[in-house]
Amino acid sequence: MKTPHVLDFVFLGATILTQTGIYRILQRIVKPRLSMAQFRLVFWAALIPSLLMLPGIITTLVRPLTGISVPGKYRAWMEGFYLVWSFASTASLLLYFLVRRWILPAAEVSPSRRVLLQRVASASLAAPFAAIGYGTFLERTAFEVREVELPVPGLHADFEGVRIAQISDLHVSPYLQIKELARAVDMTNELKPFLTFVTGDLISYPGDPLDATIREIARLRADQGVLGCLGNHEIYCDAEAYVEREAARYGMDFLRMRNREIRRGNGALNVAGVDFQPFKERQRYLKGAEKLLRNGMPNVLLSHNPDVFPVAARLGFDVTLAGHTHAGQVTVEILNRYTNVARFLTSYVAGLYLENNKACYVTAGIGTIGMPVRIGAPPEIMLLKLRRS
Ligand SMILES: [Fe+2]
Repeated sequence: MKTPHVLDFVFLGATILTQTGIYRILQRIVKPRLSMAQFRLVFWAALIPSLLMLPGIITTLVRPLTGISVPGKYRAWMEGFYLVWSFASTASLLLYFLVRRWILPAAEVSPSRRVLLQRVASASLAAPFAAIGYGTFLERTAFEVREVELPVPGLHADFEGVRIAQISDLHVSPYLQIKELARAVDMTNELKPFLTFVTGDLISYPGDPLDATIREIARLRADQGVLGCLGNHEIYCDAEAYVEREAARYGMDFLRMRNREIRRGNGALNVAGVDFQPFKERQRYLKGAEKLLRNGMPNVLLSHNPDVFPVAARLGFDVTLAGHTHAGQVTVEILNRYTNVARFLTSYVAGLYLENNKACYVTAGIGTIGMPVRIGAPPEIMLLKLRRS
């Protein structure tokens, strides 16, 4: 059962403040400029989404306390709507204050140009809602194949150019249907990979269609089959042993503190996998994983959590492949740097990291959690091409 987290209450507090702020602006600034009929329309347009947030607020806070269970499908969308609308209205309000306080007074312009600027500023209040709409209905399921050259120290010539596919963070749930996963599986198979890795978070919460997800990923085809590791949501769903066992029935090997040696010609590659390594147990990262290393061949680690990379590198893993961050889901470029919430968790947020001749690739994955939104962090299927380094 999910425990109410202090962040849930902080988020609720921010939501109440934001909604109150919006109604104050409506009363003080918008009302005097509109006719009564126009104002009623605007007021209801703001009130209806506020009311629609209530069920999400209730399930977010009350369900863990009372144990009253709402069907997963409806709960996910109710909570998703609450998060999305609260996020968009907070962004909108912040933008409004920013424009009113700093941009408009600073602009030395003629009165007519000022009126135009004010209209542009008002229109820009809609920008966060437009961005969220785009992120929910378009970018969220616009899967793309990302191709990356992966330098692997000690790679045998027979492995040069070998193609490995990776999919991660499927989060099959009301936010990502089986038919959407099927599309991702087809796209992965079209890459004709030598190996395919699935790096955790098959579903989001108990009640999500785990069996159908396993059946669907069993359609993944690769010369040397499908290997994987498990994510934190397999822990939340108490499904680690189940996924390992059921996937094995279809010939997929989820490596739980185990390794497999893969051969090609005269070369070999050692692939090891570990269960989710919790952030709060950083000092225990990869405890016991040294026994999975093999001499005389490159060692690849599948770890859902990318934060283990420095520890993995120190132990002797040449490559770490991870997911978990979803590339932040909502990523904004500020001053040439990408900023998103995942940076609070780890410095390894998305893409390729090279340190001391070791490599780590963190994929954005294909699913979403919390808010059914992706902005600037498109869902991706990885094609990793191995290169000798
Ligand atoms: Fe995830």
